[in-house]
Amino acid sequence: MTESAVARRRIVVGVTGGIAAYKAVGVVRGFVLAGHDVQVVATDAALRFVGRPTWEAISRNPVETELYEGVAEVRHVAIGQSADLVVVAPATANELAKLAAGIADDLLGTTVLASTAPLVLAPAMHTEMWRNAATQANVAVLRARGVHIVGPESGPLTGQDSGPGRMSEPDEIVRAALAALADRDGTADLRGRRVLVTAGGTREPLDPVRFIGNRSSGRQGVALALAAARRGAEVTLVAANLDTGVTGSGPPAGLRVVSVGTAAELREAALREAGAVEVIVMAAAVADYRPEGVSESKIKKDDHGDRLELHLVRNPDILSELTAARRPGQTIIGFAAETEPGRDRQLELGRAKAERKGVDYLVLNRVGWTEGFSTPTNSVTVLDRAGAIVAEAEGAKGTVADRILDLLA
Ligand code: CTP
Repeated sequence: MTESAVARRRIVVGVTGGIAAYKAVGVVRGFVLAGHDVQVVATDAALRFVGRPTWEAISRNPVETELYEGVAEVRHVAIGQSADLVVVAPATANELAKLAAGIADDLLGTTVLASTAPLVLAPAMHTEMWRNAATQANVAVLRARGVHIVGPESGPLTGQDSGPGRMSEPDEIVRAALAALADRDGTADLRGRRVLVTAGGTREPLDPVRFIGNRSSGRQGVALALAAARRGAEVTLVAANLDTGVTGSGPPAGLRVVSVGTAAELREAALREAGAVEVIVMAAAVADYRPEGVSESKIKKDDHGDRLELHLVRNPDILSELTAARRPGQTIIGFAAETEPGRDRQLELGRAKAERKGVDYLVLNRVGWTEGFSTPTNSVTVLDRAGAIVAEAEGAKGTVADRILDLLA
């Protein structure tokens, strides 16, 4: 996922020799899609599972493996010194033992020792090896040193066996690692908050091949979801037909994503998820009307001639339903896209909408043929429930997202 406003950090991903190395490709990809600069340090054993070209292609950087390469640049410590975050995935039982003892007989070992950045390990091994007293003692030593251990999870392992030892899913590792980074940076001001964000535009089908939609790309909503996750929140993104340009070629890392198509599906997902969150951000562009009936087969010109009449019926107002069912202490943020050019009239419409919908904050932005949609930037005014202007923001959608989230922190 491309998000220009994410502070680009230097992340070292150490890969050791376990079959879960293939899943670590997803970890590297997750960091890259979140906008970070990723340096893979692979052990020789890791390269027997997944080859160098894969790591280089996915990380978009050369892969370092050798202790005795780049000696003039003192590479064995430089990588660790410049890292903002070090993640080892998978971390084999052998690697945990080495790291617990501070052994530095390879490039990953020297990198970890030379780094003062948060260290996140994702163990992966067979259940017996994980449960072994030696491994458990090593993990305890590492934890006591402040190392973050993610997983392992319980589930099917490589052979016929099943149990604890399975490496956590890439998304979970990325989420935990970025949370550790935000904690270190002091930017995790939404830690412990659960946030629901809706993004994108709903599509109301007319027949199996056609729909009524809108121009929302989902960019601003996704930027909000990513910014909230980066600030420590647990984020669920209800995504309606996001533009491919927004999601890149993979799902957003570190978020739980629920995909929906129509307003009815978005409503169902939002009402279901709302009960479990402290914050709701309703950034999706929801169709106000849907076709009264959906044709089971393609609508044919021969059946209609020169004029085709469509009958539309009102969709429920999801935001109003959410505010009506608000949990105590829940904060609900609505959006209002207006084409009105005059600032005063726009504020007037926004104030009426904030009151009508019962939101805590209303993010007002101007849209038009050339404004607001599919652009990387946005310009918004945020009103509170009483209609007072509480924030104004302009710039990259990520920057705008952070300004909006500042109201919650
Ligand atoms: N919204 C919603 N359900 C709908 C329509 C809109 O939850 N059926 C939400 C949007 O997600 C947004 C807010 O309501 O957060 C305002 O959307 P907007 O389209 O600006 O307002 P409408 O209520 O549709 O009013 P109008 O289009 O008449 O200006």
